[in-house]
Amino acid sequence: MPATRSFRIAVIPGDGIGNEVVPEGLRVLDRLAENSYGTLSIAFESFPWGCEHYLRTGRMMDEDGLERLTAFDAMYFGAVGWPGVPDHVSLWGLRLAICQGFDQYACIRPVRLLPGIQSPLRDATAETIDWVVVRENSEGEYAGVGGRNFAGRGDRREVAVQAAMFTEQGCERIIRYAFELARTRKRRKVTSATKSNAQQYGMTLWDDVFARVAAEYPDVETEQWLVDAMAARFVLRPETLEVVVASNLFGDILSDLGSALAGSLGIAASANLDPERRKPSMFEPVHGSAPDIAGKGIANPIAAIWSVVLMLDHLGLADEAARVMRAIEATTAAGIVTPDLGGTATTRQVGEEIVARM
Ligand code: NAI
Ligand code: MG
Repeated sequence: MPATRSFRIAVIPGDGIGNEVVPEGLRVLDRLAENSYGTLSIAFESFPWGCEHYLRTGRMMDEDGLERLTAFDAMYFGAVGWPGVPDHVSLWGLRLAICQGFDQYACIRPVRLLPGIQSPLRDATAETIDWVVVRENSEGEYAGVGGRNFAGRGDRREVAVQAAMFTEQGCERIIRYAFELARTRKRRKVTSATKSNAQQYGMTLWDDVFARVAAEYPDVETEQWLVDAMAARFVLRPETLEVVVASNLFGDILSDLGSALAGSLGIAASANLDPERRKPSMFEPVHGSAPDIAGKGIANPIAAIWSVVLMLDHLGLADEAARVMRAIEATTAAGIVTPDLGGTATTRQVGEEIVARM
């Protein structure tokens, strides 16, 4: 009998549908442990951080939050944001505080058309919709550099500066990650998306680093595209995409576009990784707290469960990851899906179905 592998996961469901989809992911982890004949143990600790916590305490997370999270093997996150708390307060106070606080610089967002799911693209197939967005997750447009000047200019004359910060090291580590990832894919190809014609400082630094790193990977095909044209290409020639590497803002936008092409924002998973494993990494659906459907029990749990797959892979549990992914695919193939995918199933029913098919 192999030795028991033990993991401790910090769970932060957050706000809105985060509280509905995260429990489904935890059931999947529980089932894996149950089925492991004692070879796998996964313990959870839940943190009640989010907008309610903010309204009660004035903080999105406890002051020693990062310190406490350091002790875990990974974090499983739902979503933050709720009407009544400004979105920039909730996002910076929790998700960005963790991602940037732990320097989780690689945000990985796979896009794939799952069996039985209809893409809004007429000719889409599982072969044509299959790529990964690698988003820079520590600096760029979300560096938080800037300010608003209220002083002395009079009514309606306020000024705001929001600077994007690009460092050579920051560009290099994410671009290198994309090249390494490309070597594990069926086609070895990396496409970089920037807007260097208009943003002539930060994004040309990115381009220069891309060219330098690319020279070390002669076996990987490369392309450099402007992000506006790239948005059109996602729709018109998705079969040409494999690994797409982009800045924090561009990667954020392109990944929502990608998930819509794969059928719904409700299936898009992501990993916020520290590839050097200095601190725990965080796994979360791409979507937000969806106040419009929260509390109705119809949120799609697949994005959250697919995020568990990414977590298992990161923890070195590749067989378990593959088992969960097959169960997700079998469930979509059987047409047991939530309303965002045209079905009638509830969050719980989809979660139960996936667990049953494991
Ligand atoms: P959203 O992703 O929450 O929702 C956009 C649309 O997609 C909504 O119509 C929603 O119903 C639908 N949708 C999202 N997830 C779904 C799921 N699992 N199943 C079915 N439908 C789903 O984005 P929105 O509305 O722009 O933002 C709502 C709040 O979430 C805001 O406070 C925002 O700041 C926050 N947010 C948080 C994120 C995070 O925590 N990582 C990411 C994006 C937004
Ligand atoms: Mg986003």
